[in-house]
Amino acid sequence: MLILNKTARVFFKPSKRKVDGFLRSFNFHPGILFLHKIVLGIETSCDDTAAAVVDETGNVLGEAIHSQTEVHLKTGGIIPPVAQQLHRENIQRIVQEALCASGISPSELSAIATTIKPGLALSLGVGLSFSLQLVDQLKKPFIPIHHMEAHALTIRLINKVEFPFLVLLISGGHCLLALVRGVSDFLLLGKSLDIAPGDMLDKVARRLSLIKHPECSTMSGGKAIEHLAKQGNRFHFDINPPMQRAKNCDFSFSGLQHVIDKIIMQKEKEEGIEKGQILSSAADIAAAVQHTTACHIAKRTHRAILFCKQRDLLSQSNAVLVVSGGVASNLYIRRALEIVTNATQCTLLCPPPRLCTDNGIMIAWNGIERLRAGLGILDNIEGIRYEPKCPLGVDISKEVAEAAIKVPRLKMKI
Ligand code: KG4
Ligand code: ZN
Repeated sequence: MLILNKTARVFFKPSKRKVDGFLRSFNFHPGILFLHKIVLGIETSCDDTAAAVVDETGNVLGEAIHSQTEVHLKTGGIIPPVAQQLHRENIQRIVQEALCASGISPSELSAIATTIKPGLALSLGVGLSFSLQLVDQLKKPFIPIHHMEAHALTIRLINKVEFPFLVLLISGGHCLLALVRGVSDFLLLGKSLDIAPGDMLDKVARRLSLIKHPECSTMSGGKAIEHLAKQGNRFHFDINPPMQRAKNCDFSFSGLQHVIDKIIMQKEKEEGIEKGQILSSAADIAAAVQHTTACHIAKRTHRAILFCKQRDLLSQSNAVLVVSGGVASNLYIRRALEIVTNATQCTLLCPPPRLCTDNGIMIAWNGIERLRAGLGILDNIEGIRYEPKCPLGVDISKEVAEAAIKVPRLKMKI
């Protein structure tokens, strides 16, 4: 395998001169050696090859990322073998760049933390096999990381957020609401029953051919929808938010996608244009789909807050809602969530965009959290496997549904 050979060249069967050269390329800090916990984090669960070095106080000492977005935009979605190949081509360079930027020698690392679940099998495999060779070579502990747990805890790198807090993860691949009670203690309140909101927005953007729009050609689908929605009028379409009768915290976006598909088809007929051309009503459609998405997400989150307060799972006076994932950078959706947190006396926190999307920092930070808590640090890496599918925490979504909490109507004047 290419990646194994590549890794081996640097970390495995290198000549003594090469190893000396590699190690000399890093600065040594004898003073800090072993005083601080320092973790190298590696992320390859989807379409970003990312690495970062973070210390226990949350200082990001070095980071590097290679995004595959441009390639996948052209093919209209992620093709797993293509993603795998791109990870293989980039992982060694990205890890080296993060280490070099940090000025930390590999021998100074306290551990290596790597995403092993959930994600695309072919992508996870590249990060894991690279990491295991590194762990073996450097004789460091290994910390397997759950990608969603890492997203959920990222906020604690920049804010003093105490457990418990509520987290909403919304991106192209994720959609869930969970209560975070500890470093590895999560209660899953609800999740998408079909696709994630970012996936739906990407599909709508593709159907609207926004890649051909001069203002949106380099934007992700969700970003293009947000951009165009500012020029549109959502009232031109009356779309019901999904799952209005289901009094739970689950989500659904594929029905909404089909409704939008039908609207687009109808408009193409009316405007007399072919599929693949840009509709004059594209901005109105973008505004309507964004508003409906925001209302759906806000309603489920509102119910999750009420459920947690009813069961005394969240502080009555100082409850925190953390929102993360690529879709969390959408300001319209954030404002809808703000209406909910204002109505429920919660604090809304959102990591900065570069920490909302997939990155190596969140993986390294999760490694630090685990080191500090003494959880899941492995000296023996035998039998470690990646897990493409892996739920987050204990699923209590049935209990949430049984509570059937009626959510008071809020005016979504955004
Ligand atoms: O977290 P992320 O980088 O990758 C994963 O999906 O894990 O999120 C990417 C998703 C894409 O679906 C993209 O369309 C969406 O986040 N996204 C947005 C915005 N920026 C990115 N969705 C809505 N509004 C945005 N401004
Ligand atoms: Zn992610």
